[in-house]
Amino acid sequence: TRVAVLISGSGTNMVSLIAEGRSPDSPYEVVLVVSNIAMAAGLEKARAAGVETAVIEHRPFGKDREAHERALDALLVEHEVEVIALAGYMRLLTPWLVREWEGRMLNIHPSLLPLYPGLNTHARALEAGDAEAGCTVHIVTEGVDEGPVLGQARVPILPGDTPDVLAERVKAAEHILYPRTLSDFVGRLHS
Ligand code: GRF
Repeated sequence: TRVAVLISGSGTNMVSLIAEGRSPDSPYEVVLVVSNIAMAAGLEKARAAGVETAVIEHRPFGKDREAHERALDALLVEHEVEVIALAGYMRLLTPWLVREWEGRMLNIHPSLLPLYPGLNTHARALEAGDAEAGCTVHIVTEGVDEGPVLGQARVPILPGDTPDVLAERVKAAEHILYPRTLSDFVGRLHS
């Protein structure tokens, strides 16, 4: 199954998805990495891994979100992409794109959804005095950080944690959870 990974930033989840996609019995392969930010550090990592990259900036499209997404969608179709994995893609999607890819677009979110949708998840978990944090892989639907949960991983919150320290611990869990969940998902798509 041909997977595209959409990023805006550092792309550490993307790296783990590429690596797993190359393991001998992987049911998927990352064939394309797309960023809306030309300077995203993840693009260099994808190139270094030998994966095709593309940049489709949103700025030239101004307020027309759908026009930006139509350009993105055309590129995905051209590359015969079957499944999209959002990995730190910092754009809200229009209902149009979500419907185009309904049931074939996954996202990873750094909290134990339904807790803490949106931004600053780690600071919010610390402020709430939670005993644990984690990450969630889910199918993308029109509501932000909603949609059926495919997998979660939990990590403890430890005394003295800052949002950055906690983010690192959660990210280590993300890098295991996302490839595994994507593999399971893709395996079920074709069975
Ligand atoms: C991750 O924490 C992910 O859960 C969130 O954005 C971050 C992306 O990090 N959606 P990276 O670019 O994969 O390093």
